[in-house]
Amino acid sequence: MTHARQHPIQVVAHRGASEEAPEHTLAAYKKAIEDGADALECDVRLTADGHLVCVHDRRVNRTSNGRGAVSALELAELAALDFGAWRNRDEAPDWEHAPGDPEDTSVLTLERLLELVADAGRRVELAIETKHPTRWAGQVEDRLLLLLKRFGLDSPQSATTSPVRVMSFSARSLHRVRAASPTMPTVYLLQFVSPRLRDGRLPAGVRIAGPSMRIVRSHPGYIERLKRAGHQVHVWTVNEPEDVDLCVELGIDAIITNRPRAVLRQLGR
Ligand code: G3P
Ligand code: CA
Repeated sequence: MTHARQHPIQVVAHRGASEEAPEHTLAAYKKAIEDGADALECDVRLTADGHLVCVHDRRVNRTSNGRGAVSALELAELAALDFGAWRNRDEAPDWEHAPGDPEDTSVLTLERLLELVADAGRRVELAIETKHPTRWAGQVEDRLLLLLKRFGLDSPQSATTSPVRVMSFSARSLHRVRAASPTMPTVYLLQFVSPRLRDGRLPAGVRIAGPSMRIVRSHPGYIERLKRAGHQVHVWTVNEPEDVDLCVELGIDAIITNRPRAVLRQLGR
């Protein structure tokens, strides 16, 4: 069944244009903006000295030439690493662009990413995912909102016009964000269909569902229930052309992809 969408489908660059440049680096986000992505997805973690950095894994071992947990390292220690020099090159996508400027593959702070977006010269939205929220008991969310405040983004006038949204697999993390910023849009990420939420409900106050592409493929009826309940649906990670087609058919609101340029082209943009 095809569903009407109230706005064009949004293309979100997952960890930047992470198929074309090392994930979560300035190079990947610059490429995503250049490619025309509507929004950028990034994961945030706290360093030992309280800085929010854009890193997916708990440790830096996979995506840099260093070792250790992000939460055990200070920003200066992370800044000495190269996030374009993955130790296990076999795990890395085949990057087209060899980054030149060292800043392009240095650890990326969320602050630097916010500056990049502010200087983009067009509207680029940010979908920020809180990682390890239990480890720091609210500090990730507190720091995030403090930083957003510096950019005038912490208290959007309305959830529908906000250029920033916060995503998490943790309903508690999203609750903390909304408690401090009631108009901040929040996305509840889902890896499987929880029996508790099978009818299309989301945790109180959450308006956007973030199911995996696997859920979309295996439970299209669930997506229909989410839409019928009035929720937006943002799907991750959508890289295959047939998955893009299915998302369009089901009336998905945002596609989160490692290949924003290819998806935009497929959508005729
Ligand atoms: O956009 C949501 C998606 O990024 C969640 O999974 O593991 O890539 O952070 P992960
Ligand atoms: Ca993520």
